[in-house]
This record gives sequence, C-alpha cells and structure tokens, in this order.
Amino acid sequence: MSRISVHKLREWKAQGQRFAMITAYDYPSARLVEQAGVPIILVGDSLGSVVLGYESTVPVTMDDIVYHTRAVVRGTSKSIIVADMPFMSYQANADEAVRNAGRLLQEGGANAVKLEGGRHIVPLVRRMVDVGIPVMGHLGLTPQSVNQFGGHKVQGKTPAAAARILNDARALEEAGAFAIVLETIPAPLAKMVTERVGVPTIGIGAGPHCDAQVQVFHDMLGIYDDQRPLKHAKQYARLGETIREAVRTYVHEVEEGAFPTAAHSFDMDEATLGELTHSG
Ligand code: KIV
Repeated sequence: MSRISVHKLREWKAQGQRFAMITAYDYPSARLVEQAGVPIILVGDSLGSVVLGYESTVPVTMDDIVYHTRAVVRGTSKSIIVADMPFMSYQANADEAVRNAGRLLQEGGANAVKLEGGRHIVPLVRRMVDVGIPVMGHLGLTPQSVNQFGGHKVQGKTPAAAARILNDARALEEAGAFAIVLETIPAPLAKMVTERVGVPTIGIGAGPHCDAQVQVFHDMLGIYDDQRPLKHAKQYARLGETIREAVRTYVHEVEEGAFPTAAHSFDMDEATLGELTHSG
C-alpha cells in the first residue's frame, strides 16, 4: 500500500474537500490516527511539551524528531508523515538546514518537513524543494518564536501584520511549499489567505475557513484534562481521566487480591506438580 502523495492535497483543495491533520509522536498513536482515517500526520515539535515535559518546543533536537518520526512511520502505511524541523535545525546555516531536512526523510522516513517562518526562509524552502524535499510552511503564532512574541498571542491583528502574513503565504507558495499551517490568527485573515493561495491552508486557532485543520493529539483527546482548556483545541475525549480510572482500578484489585484470577494465570499438570513436590 503506497502513501498518499503531497500533490493530492492540492487536488483536494481544488475540489473543496476538507481534511484533518493530527500530530502523533509514537507507534501506537500513529497507528490509531491512521486507522481513524487521518490522511496526514505531523510529528510536531510540540512533542517537547506534550511528550517530553519541556515548557516549550525550543529544547527539542533533531535526534528527538528523527527518533519519534521513525516510530510514527513504522505505525503507518498510508498517511503522509510530515516531520517538524526543530529550533536551530534550519536557522543558522542553509547547508546545514538542507542536510537536516534530508535526515528527516533519510533517517526518519518522513515524506515531508515543516518549517516555521515567512519570507526570510523562502530561499531555504526553494533549495529544499529543488533537491526533492516536500516542504510545509507555518505562519502566524510560530511556537519557536514564542520568546520574541512575548507569549502565546494572536498574530496578524494590525493591518501591517496581517499584510505580512498574506505576503509570506504567497511567497511560500511561490517557493514551492505544498501546504501552509496558519496558527492563531484571526479567522477573517485565514479566510483571505486561503482564498489567495493555491496550496491548502491548515488551520489551528485560525477559524473555520481554512482548507484543513490540525490538532495536537494530547489536547484533542484530553490526556492533560487537568490543565486549562486551550481556546483553539476541542476535546473529543477525556482519556486522561479514563486512563487514571483504569489504573486506579488495577491498583485496587492488586491490593485486594482480586487480580490476577485463574483466568490470567497459567496452570501446571498434576503429575509434574506431584513430582516437584516429592523431589523438593
Ligand atoms: O508542533 C506542532 O504540533 C505544530 C502544530 C501545532 C501545527 O506545529
């Protein structure tokens, strides 16, 4: 079974067919989301906060993304796998950036990479696309720049900032990006970008007019349901509580001697048991 091609996404946009992207970071989550019909999976650097326990995406390394991408690829056979380029894997030096993007395909097995940024990364995007690396762009509240933004604030709220995002989206499309994530920008601006570029826009906190949506696995499934709900995330389940409750029951049954029962145990035939008793 071959994977969906990144070119399909453009066709879907032209046909008005919306689609969903979800993050996944390991074999079981990737298997589950592909089985649920997700055509495109992002190994996001959000793994820094939701899997590795960091406060932001900044500490995530290339080795982290390669390691997690390999597991996601092993758990899937149809979905497009996009690997995030982590902070400082593409900002310092163009040669190193292209080599790192290549590592995500060669060692990680990803089908494409995602980079944050607008016009300043256009030459990089062009180089990557030229050597055969499909690139997804990412504009708006780009988490790797959260220190520069002074927190998780809605971007593109002034006419100048909105025009910058619009122009950046056009520049990324022209450089060959096959899709663009729009994160935490006003819905009318996301609508305008979506109408003015030929490649699909994938929104998160960008309203209902994007061609596609992306959600973070742990947010949408309520793994951390003890945390403040995020405005851009919808909780489709409360798995954190379900898991805690199941583990509590297990702990209780072990303490009470209710688990394991004969159904979970292995027997020994009488003759072997008798021989053992007499020899001991
Ligand atoms: O790392 C990530 O999960 C992302 C999505 C929020 C788009 O970049």
